[in-house]
Amino acid sequence: MDLMLRIGPLQLESPLLLAPIAGYCDLPFRLLCRELGGVGLAATELLNCRSVLKERPKALKLSASTVADRPLCMQLYGSADDPLPEAAAWAVEAGADVVDINMGCPVDKVCKKNGGSLLLKDLDATERLVRRIVRRIERTGAPVTAKIRLGWDRNSIVGPELVRRLEDSGVAAVTVHGRTTDQKFKGAADVDGIAACVAAADRIPVIGNGDLRTPGDVKAMMDRTGCAGVMIGRGALRAPWLFSQAATLLKTGVEPADLSDVEKLRVVLRHIELMMEHAGERETVICMNQRISRYGKTMGPCKALREQVRLATSVAEIREAIEGWIGEREGMKNEFSVPRAHT
Ligand SMILES: Cc1cc2nc3c(=O)[nH]c(=O)nc-3n(C[C@H](O)[C@H](O)[C@H](O)COP(=O)(O)O)c2cc1C
Repeated sequence: MDLMLRIGPLQLESPLLLAPIAGYCDLPFRLLCRELGGVGLAATELLNCRSVLKERPKALKLSASTVADRPLCMQLYGSADDPLPEAAAWAVEAGADVVDINMGCPVDKVCKKNGGSLLLKDLDATERLVRRIVRRIERTGAPVTAKIRLGWDRNSIVGPELVRRLEDSGVAAVTVHGRTTDQKFKGAADVDGIAACVAAADRIPVIGNGDLRTPGDVKAMMDRTGCAGVMIGRGALRAPWLFSQAATLLKTGVEPADLSDVEKLRVVLRHIELMMEHAGERETVICMNQRISRYGKTMGPCKALREQVRLATSVAEIREAIEGWIGEREGMKNEFSVPRAHT
């Protein structure tokens, strides 16, 4: 399978992209996924174009990055009346390798400002907006991409037409989340809908997105739609090692063995370390209180550990619980593997 994905001038090392997920795919989590391997590109969560231009503290925090967090896509949202072209220039200046325009967010806060999924409703206006953005950052060489849904609802599917128009407007790649806006996250992602968008593009790569949880899901999406790459969101929150595993499957045709629970918990410990480095104690505790259940879903029975971490009030408590659990498992393993002396 072709593992080369090119977005404009940018050659990615893998066709597997980490999705923007507001409140989750922050700098520590992006670094964690990258360290585990297999990530071709990772994105910030959606950034309000006016907030970045005003350099509001929250916008600066959400767009913060490091040299290890490359290549980086910064995602912006706004409408035709907003200073999106200027915000795109700001993003490139701030270190973005790719600027993505959000055209799929169904959340009221975003749509009420005519951004996100509302861009699916008036394709003429969206095309004009995109041309202005592309023109504004053309000289920097940074590609503009778009992340869309199939349409607002089943009666207004615009995916293929929008892909064609975006391609003509100079967009370098389009990610298609295989749902309509009114579905929000319900139902299953429509693989045929993504395939129709792939078929609509002549020159640019189309990236498939929605419901990919296993390396097999990734391969099936690529096989069934012919997409040039995939974007993974919620699947990565529970298994940040999914990129590396899927990359191995795509490269070798063989699905690697799953990580052991101890290996998974070592990943959680690394996540804690990165959170502490970039966010501090309070955010680390809140993050782990919430996210341990996602990690736990990929593991064998570990309810007591999950509860300890969920209710913990300090990082020390969380580490102690996880390290204790690992110690117990490793102790058990050693007990069974110690060769017994013949008597
Ligand atoms: C909590 C949450 C926050 C999200 N935030 C964003 C966002 O900031 N920008 C965006 O384009 N998509 C966002 N999405 C959509 C995801 O990027 C992705 O398209 C969707 O979850 C389907 O992919 P998945 O099944 O791999 O998660 C968000 C999804 C969730 C569940």
